[in-house]
Amino acid sequence: MLEIGFAKPVLPTSGAVVLLIAEEERPGGLWQQADAATGGAISRALSAAEFKGGKGKTCTVLGPGGDLTRVVAVGLGKRSDLNPRILQDAGGAAAGALAREAIASIAADGLSATQAAEVAFGATLNAYRFDRYRTKEKPQDKPKLAALSVLTGDPSGAADAWQPLAGAANGVFLTRDLVSEPANVLNPAEMADRCRQLKALGVKVEVLGPQEMRALGFGALLGVAQGSVNEPRVVVMRWDNGGAARPVAFIGKGVTFDTGGISIKPAGGMEDMKWDMAGAGAVVGLMAALAGRKARVNAVGVVGLVENMPSGSAQRPGDVVKSYSGQTIEVINTDAEGRLVLADVIWYCQQKFDPQFMVDLATLTGAIIISLGHEHAGLFSNDDALAEKLLAAGKETGEKLWRMPLDEAYDKQIKSEIADMKNIGGRPAGSVTAAQFIQRFVNDKPWAHLDIAGMAWSSKDAPTVPKGATAFGVRLLDRLVAAYYET
Ligand code: BES
Ligand code: MN
Ligand code: ZN
Repeated sequence: MLEIGFAKPVLPTSGAVVLLIAEEERPGGLWQQADAATGGAISRALSAAEFKGGKGKTCTVLGPGGDLTRVVAVGLGKRSDLNPRILQDAGGAAAGALAREAIASIAADGLSATQAAEVAFGATLNAYRFDRYRTKEKPQDKPKLAALSVLTGDPSGAADAWQPLAGAANGVFLTRDLVSEPANVLNPAEMADRCRQLKALGVKVEVLGPQEMRALGFGALLGVAQGSVNEPRVVVMRWDNGGAARPVAFIGKGVTFDTGGISIKPAGGMEDMKWDMAGAGAVVGLMAALAGRKARVNAVGVVGLVENMPSGSAQRPGDVVKSYSGQTIEVINTDAEGRLVLADVIWYCQQKFDPQFMVDLATLTGAIIISLGHEHAGLFSNDDALAEKLLAAGKETGEKLWRMPLDEAYDKQIKSEIADMKNIGGRPAGSVTAAQFIQRFVNDKPWAHLDIAGMAWSSKDAPTVPKGATAFGVRLLDRLVAAYYET
């Protein structure tokens, strides 16, 4: 992780400096000093570039004078509109512009301590890279930025504000690492082992194997798993720091690879299905974030880890399985496997922990990408109050949600001739029928389902989310907990 430090606002005489500039303001402090030290090179460059401090705008001045290698102006937009998102994006843009520098400073002297910490958070999130399997990249082609000093009038206040954000960044990175791993490395047992590493943060971790699941009667999850030589796991993670309160619960779909099973997927793009465990990955990262910042909450995370493969032992279309809840399911399409996994883990979580609410995350349907593209995750909920809180947390973190309907009218689409339900509802409203299916495994309890199929992986760089695994859901749910559920 990028090494973050906070220091008094003293202009460095060498290296790279970022100047954060609000729109329609005469910059002061370090900006003035930097401009004077470079004989006005900065103000000349910014006026030539017509840089006015607009949100998201950057302007790089190379070799402006003295021993400064680079000065980067990053626009903040209007000061009155500033919020954590904008500050994080500015930090992200700064880190992006500094990638070629080893050591750099950000002049945050016009900002409060908490605002400076948000800038550091954005820079940190930008600097993530999944590098494990590159053995031949030349050192000069690698991003160099290793340490970033944030210059602020209140370095110790900023360092205090940074602590919980560092915990959150650690959770985001854990999720990005898990989601980026190829499926030959990250099978269910390996993912369970990585969950065990959360014990170092004070999280209690319990792992169920196929024996225990058979004994409990996880017929829906085990049906998905039976085609693979890689055994399934269910991992229960608990962070108990909220006194006597009932826990909040997060549940993740963790299909470490989804071939579709016997209802096999086409070859083109199938490699993407290594990230079909992104819901579970987000739950693991969230638990790390909550523990890392010592959130005052009782939280439980439950992930269902399976590999969906075709083989001589795989389940067939038409098979009927009995879920842990006792309800039977006709498996019409073995590629609608996520809901089968969630059916058992959601029921388990609810029976075992009686949580205040449950939120599940799943890369559940291609149909949600048709509905919402790559801008919003689908939110389905039986509880308006919970849905409103999630929508608000989405706006605040930039991990946006769009509410979709639940309605019994869709139930006829998943009616089976032979069992209590079937696992697909045809093409119309494919994400809604999937959510209706999951709802059958939720008792009378606030619940929300986030279909993150369009959000888990990104093909383009954004200031705080480099392309690849996004860790969508970690910041969102960390915010949900921080805003509404801490004691
Ligand atoms: N994991 C997929 C959904 C998915 C698709 C995630 C594209 C990310 C990108 C899920 O298991 C699946 O295969 N869903 C099917 C359901 C259908 C058979 C009813 C789908 O969306 O096609
Ligand atoms: Mn599938
Ligand atoms: Zn899937």
